[in-house]
Amino acid sequence: MRGAVVTGWGIALPDKVVTNDDLSARLDTSDSWITERTGIKERRIGGTTSELAVEAGRQALKRAGRQGDQIDVLVLATTTPDAIVPGTSATVQNALGVAGGAFDLNAACSGFVYGLVTAHGLVQAGAERVLLIGSETLSRITNWDDRSVAVLVGDGAGGVVLEATDGPGQLLAWDLGADGSLRHLLCCDHGGYLFMNGREIFRHAVHAVVSSSLNALGRAGLTADEIDLFVPHQANARIIEAASQRLGIPSDRCVVTIDRYGNTSSASIPLALADALETDRLRPGALVLLSGFGGGMTWASAVLRWKG
Ligand code: ACO
Repeated sequence: MRGAVVTGWGIALPDKVVTNDDLSARLDTSDSWITERTGIKERRIGGTTSELAVEAGRQALKRAGRQGDQIDVLVLATTTPDAIVPGTSATVQNALGVAGGAFDLNAACSGFVYGLVTAHGLVQAGAERVLLIGSETLSRITNWDDRSVAVLVGDGAGGVVLEATDGPGQLLAWDLGADGSLRHLLCCDHGGYLFMNGREIFRHAVHAVVSSSLNALGRAGLTADEIDLFVPHQANARIIEAASQRLGIPSDRCVVTIDRYGNTSSASIPLALADALETDRLRPGALVLLSGFGGGMTWASAVLRWKG
């Protein structure tokens, strides 16, 4: 049996911090509305998707003690590519000197977990090392005069190096899902701005996270109370609270970074993972549940036994 383990991780955040007060100065909104309805206090804005991805990838490679030319495949999860063609992964591959293949993966905010499952599959198919990065610049597709979206988004990136190991590896079970009949709830046309039906997404999101998490847990032969750390996609603190409560996972076992970063789409789960690692909340042996949802709609969950 062949599996994959995370051997390195890295993040990138733009320097520019935009607070709720900064937004309230130019939009009909307020710190109290944003805080109460979303849990967001500030977000980082700036850079390009490739710049952020290169920085996160560089850090992940460094922690893994690897060079780009030791990577067989680069998987870049993003819904905000620098261009339509080529894939942003081409720029990142070139900057990091990745020796193998490189491709973009767009599953909106579920992208990192989709990428994690894909990376494990690549390792099982023979790859020795995969660099997986979630990188986003949602600020570039945001209409900064639209308060319904502008207060939610942030930019950032997070990445991990996954390496082959003998034995089952870290991924115990996963669940991927999509329902394209809901694609109108969150969309952005070529050259346009992000549109979302927040109320409807909220409703579907809680259901998607809970049912997908339960599917993955069931396949792993686990229950939610055995989970040491829940790392959900960071779209809204109330979605995270509602999903955690329904799963029966107490808040001290749940990672929340939305207050500092807002919704960074496919970067949100690796940024939250990194936060847990930096604060020593994620130790070898821990059972970790990752769960995301996003445009499409898509959803994705993974249960890991942490080894990195
Ligand atoms: N400031 C002040 N008032 C606002 C703002 C704002 N920024 N935005 C909306 N409002 C107003 C609305 O106009 C509405 O006013 P009305 O009652 O007079 O019509 C009122 O606040 C309530 O609006 P709701 O939409 O019902 O507010 P809700 O409590 O649902 O919160 C929110 C809105 C935060 C968008 C929430 O629905 C949400 O988080 N939904 C999920 C968003 C999400 O997860 N998106 C997916 C990912 S995003 C991505 O991928 C980029």
